[in-house]
Amino acid sequence: MSRGNLFLIFVLVSPSWEICCSQRGVTSIDPVIERKVDSLLALMTVEEKVGQLNQLAGQWDENARRVILTDEQRNLMKRGLVGSFLNVTGSELTREFQRIAVNESRLHIPLIFALDVIHGLRTTFPIPLAEASSWDPEAAEMSARIAAREASAFGINWTFAPMVDIARDPRWGRIAEGSGEDPYLGSMMAAARVRGFQGSGFHDSTSLVACAKHFAAYGAAEAGRDYNTVDISEQTLRDIYLPPFRAAVDAGVGTLMSAFNEIAGVPSTANHKLLTTILRSEWGFKGFVVSDWEAVEELQEHGIAGTPGEAALKAITAGVDMDMATQLYIKHLPEMVESGALSMGALNEAVRRVLRVKFALGLFENPYRNCHPELENEVVVTAQSRGAARKIAGESIVLLKNANALLPLKKDIRTLAVIGSLANSKVDPLGPWAGFFGRPEDVVTVLEGIKAKVSANTQILYARGCESRFSDTTGFGEAVRAAQGADAIVLVVGETRDMSGEASSRSDIGLPGVQEELVKRVYAAGHPLVLVLMNGRPLTIAWEAANIPAIIESWFLGVETGNAVASVLFGDLNPSGKLPVSFPRTVGQIPIYYNHKNTGRPFVEKEKYTSKFLDLPNTPLFPFGYGMSYTSFSYSNLRVMSLKVRKHESVTVSIEVKNTGAQAGDDVVQLYVHDDVASNTRPVKELNGFRRITLNPEESKTVEFTVDTDRLGFHNSDMKYVVEPGKFKVFIGGNSVDCLEGSFELTE
Ligand code: GLC
Repeated sequence: MSRGNLFLIFVLVSPSWEICCSQRGVTSIDPVIERKVDSLLALMTVEEKVGQLNQLAGQWDENARRVILTDEQRNLMKRGLVGSFLNVTGSELTREFQRIAVNESRLHIPLIFALDVIHGLRTTFPIPLAEASSWDPEAAEMSARIAAREASAFGINWTFAPMVDIARDPRWGRIAEGSGEDPYLGSMMAAARVRGFQGSGFHDSTSLVACAKHFAAYGAAEAGRDYNTVDISEQTLRDIYLPPFRAAVDAGVGTLMSAFNEIAGVPSTANHKLLTTILRSEWGFKGFVVSDWEAVEELQEHGIAGTPGEAALKAITAGVDMDMATQLYIKHLPEMVESGALSMGALNEAVRRVLRVKFALGLFENPYRNCHPELENEVVVTAQSRGAARKIAGESIVLLKNANALLPLKKDIRTLAVIGSLANSKVDPLGPWAGFFGRPEDVVTVLEGIKAKVSANTQILYARGCESRFSDTTGFGEAVRAAQGADAIVLVVGETRDMSGEASSRSDIGLPGVQEELVKRVYAAGHPLVLVLMNGRPLTIAWEAANIPAIIESWFLGVETGNAVASVLFGDLNPSGKLPVSFPRTVGQIPIYYNHKNTGRPFVEKEKYTSKFLDLPNTPLFPFGYGMSYTSFSYSNLRVMSLKVRKHESVTVSIEVKNTGAQAGDDVVQLYVHDDVASNTRPVKELNGFRRITLNPEESKTVEFTVDTDRLGFHNSDMKYVVEPGKFKVFIGGNSVDCLEGSFELTE
């Protein structure tokens, strides 16, 4: 009997794997799985072990118009030298690849299939930055759950999401993929998305293994230029950029992805302190780490590896378990083991982590668990998923301005001009990372949504204004004529979807091309004008903010864009979104974020020698946490239940919120704290809690927060997390600026 058959018998008679992975994700070691891994490791050659650490990419064939299996890939699979594929999708194709891996290799180890399912598969949801504007972690969990349900029917077991990078620089195009500038909001959204993707546990065939990325501090790239150098203090790394990753790990995330960037001279993909000391020794992470695309090979570009073999050795030694798309591990690690440069123990540990996840997924018992051709068309873009997409899109819209209550518009308006190529675009609302499956034909455009919302007697005048690259003004005349002939105007401007996302940094984040000129020409028509922004990052729209009466931030909202925007425009939905990121007045203000330090010379009006610009206020155009409603809310009676609180205890803080307007609405009540005096300087405010509440007209609610004093700490100069006694201020409001204030004394 061959060793392979022996192994198969072992798996078949062992206890059912269901008992191995009842927990959500990979939060603990399961002895049953460990024994299986031990048995398999004992059968594996060094090459087969390294093979599990090798991830290949599906190869698109232009002639066949599909991903094909190359001869090289097939041979590697038969030799057991492939552990995973990315960008191989569909039940038929993954079944084909899996059959070869399982039936034609010596040990029949199944593959794990990965894809970037970032904000939906076929049902494209709002981009993550938009979804973060909802401040609704349950909504984020729901969209990830639906995405997992769809993707898991197409052979996919693993998604490279959630992206949890904190971003304080909107020039960086990947700000679109994350949850903005705040560690607490980012942590809540990260954990929610991990729960959504991973579902009730890996035993559930609709679960995907999630992947918190890009570890770490990728969003701190200097000048917001993608892939650029990151050079931040370890305190800033630990207190600002790492918390969302820690939240993902605590939520049981199965994998992390190492980032392209260096941090203070050490590339993340070769950063032992990051990938092993912090991630595993301090946080107890049990899953595995995959590199970003070719990041292992790029260690040579970084200049810390002189050869491909050295790059491979540095990466795996630092803690990168799987190599994406370079094959350097299978080419060089066997010789490193041979020479003793890489210990067998270290190799076994990396392989164990990968096998642990494959066993937890049940792939050994059912390698085809996610191959459901009969399900593929059944689960995608269902009425339920569209309904969820519309709800989340609606909650993600931020009302930035509404002078003289211009909004909502009346549905029976006689003539409405809708202007802008983005208003009629089926592609751009999908946003960056709509991936292989996002389809323009699934998108409801803003124009379509408006047409479906207004009365039968309403005349819609559409004009594109400028073409989709915003470079020519030939459409201005038609646009101005439409504006002049209308009772009101909805002008949609912003970015095309490829102007944000990866490798899409912009040095000037104003409206691209000739759009600002278009706005001014349409504004000059003198009729009521509503500006709808469609974009993947904050934009510097100071002129618009000063002159246009109503402005809506819609980001990229996915398939239900038009219905969500129209619902807000015509009042079927009262907007409730809040900005997860500050809007700078100009690029010169960047970086600008709400949780800044006070400095020794904070700005004082009319005082020269204080921290300021000569030509701008220090405040952003629109602050973090800001968003308007069609109703109004009053905040009163902030109460701190204990004025003296001992360390490790909690203190309750409450506020009364009243809907003082004429229609029901949601508000996001935000709690901020400030450590008055500490051994290190502390931010002027730090988000410490938030609650979305719904209030009817004249209705009041008392909202209570329990402040856990253990969460009031920071990493000091010795890199110890400390909570220090002294006075703490608390702030509560509907944004990070307009707050009521209270305080308490923290004692030993
Ligand atoms: C890309 C991105 C990463 C993505 C990976 C696989 O370069 O940086 O976010 O998951 O490659 O597509």
